[in-house]
Amino acid sequence: HEESASLLSPERIVNIAHRGASGHAPEHTIRSYEYAKKMGTDYLEIDLHMTADGELVAIHDQKLQRTTGYDGLVSDMSLRDLKRLDAGSWFNQENPKLANPDFEKMKIPSLAEILDQFGTEVNYYIEIKAPSVYPGMIDELLETLSFHHLLEENRREGSVIIQSFSAASLKKVHQLDASIPLIQLLHQKQQKLSEVDFEEIAQYAIGVGAPYQALNPDLIHKIKGTDLLVHAYTVNQSEEMEQLLDWGGVTGIFTDYPDVLADILEDR
Ligand code: G3P
Ligand code: CA
Repeated sequence: HEESASLLSPERIVNIAHRGASGHAPEHTIRSYEYAKKMGTDYLEIDLHMTADGELVAIHDQKLQRTTGYDGLVSDMSLRDLKRLDAGSWFNQENPKLANPDFEKMKIPSLAEILDQFGTEVNYYIEIKAPSVYPGMIDELLETLSFHHLLEENRREGSVIIQSFSAASLKKVHQLDASIPLIQLLHQKQQKLSEVDFEEIAQYAIGVGAPYQALNPDLIHKIKGTDLLVHAYTVNQSEEMEQLLDWGGVTGIFTDYPDVLADILEDR
């Protein structure tokens, strides 16, 4: 069974819980990560921004509006101020059928809190967002991971992956610690990349994260030609998961529904 293969094996298809089990609970909250863990995901996916007082926090947008209703930026607030915001009620309003009063108590978690809670038992797939906005973000990230024993030499292979759309950020991480597996995220328009581009990415990264709508058997073949892993984001319909898996070559899927993906992988 695939479980025994390394998380980074080209034979393995990893289940990446996008912002936690964000189809079931408010994204990037402890509840969303708890659900993901229960659903048997391989990775908790965490997007990072940095507060005014230099704390790394799990949130997708630079702006707080969408997930907290507050008109402001993460970078203008201290962690203490962020903790006053309600990061769960928006989900109940948007998803009345999934609404749960428990979600209203959810706060924006710091990376340190997440790592404290889940420790070295789970695997983390961490995205450096908007690095140009936050000087010092990469050093802070590596320090936090190291403090939580996630960069130990004898760690499980692939237990922490760092991903970014920013090649410069990934190259910086690679320079500081070449042992950390990196995923270069691609935008939709980058589906025209050539073998030469993928060879350049392979100098520092172990794979690419591509929007699944951009993927097709030819592109997957081209990427695999440079021995890069291919992780597809963000796939929420079972038919689309099956399609990608039928093509072959995809080695990971980001999904808001890790339970759906786990069922499909189990049956194959
Ligand atoms: O990190 C892969 C995927 O999550 C990128 O899109 O916008 O959801 O972070 P986004
Ligand atoms: Ca992400």
